[in-house]
Amino acid sequence: MNRIISPSLLSADFGRLNDAIDMINASDAEWLHLDIMDGVFVPNISFGFPVIEAVKKRCTKKLDTHLMIENPDKFISDFARAGADILNVHYEACTHLHRSIQRIKAENMQAAVTLNPHTSVALLEDIIRDVDMVLLMSVNPGFAGQRFIENIYEKTARLKELILRKNSNALIQVDGGVNYEVGKKLFDAGADVLVAGSFVFGSENPLETITKLRDL
Ligand code: DX5
Ligand code: ZN
Repeated sequence: MNRIISPSLLSADFGRLNDAIDMINASDAEWLHLDIMDGVFVPNISFGFPVIEAVKKRCTKKLDTHLMIENPDKFISDFARAGADILNVHYEACTHLHRSIQRIKAENMQAAVTLNPHTSVALLEDIIRDVDMVLLMSVNPGFAGQRFIENIYEKTARLKELILRKNSNALIQVDGGVNYEVGKKLFDAGADVLVAGSFVFGSENPLETITKLRDL
């Protein structure tokens, strides 16, 4: 399985978004991670549809869209129209998760479920075969640049076990506080996709950082 890097646009310079997207297009990142925050599900607000549409026009990579919003069902079609290729909804925000997943797929997007750091992977037993990916949050969602929560290595390994036991094709994505040291341990534990925000965009040479992360 190919290792995928999904840099988070949240840490880019928003005054020079085109430059950030051109860098991503030229990089070894297969996806671009878009963090959508509503100020209700998480204590921060990021950006919405006009920005996603502008990114879609220029970006050649898959848009990996992480919804940190209440009631994501309300906006599934809007995210499809704006250009999301992958839609991540939080387990904690979906009362009828199975329905949400089916609706995302019906809009021809890949469907992923995201777990907050305290939410157990055991809760995914009955949905793991229906999702294309599980995103494990390794910080409390809301902000870039936070410290990685160590428990997530073991949680990644437990999720891998569940996926194998259930014969699921779901990928494992981890998001928050990723750097070279953390990334290596996550790949060893079974992660397929790493999100990295401040570590990529805050580095001297983001192109090289992305390649090195992928090749850890
Ligand atoms: C946190 C977001 C993350 C964040 C990652 O709420 O979901 O995607 O931007 O940023 P770093 O890599 O700096 O932790
Ligand atoms: Zn994210």
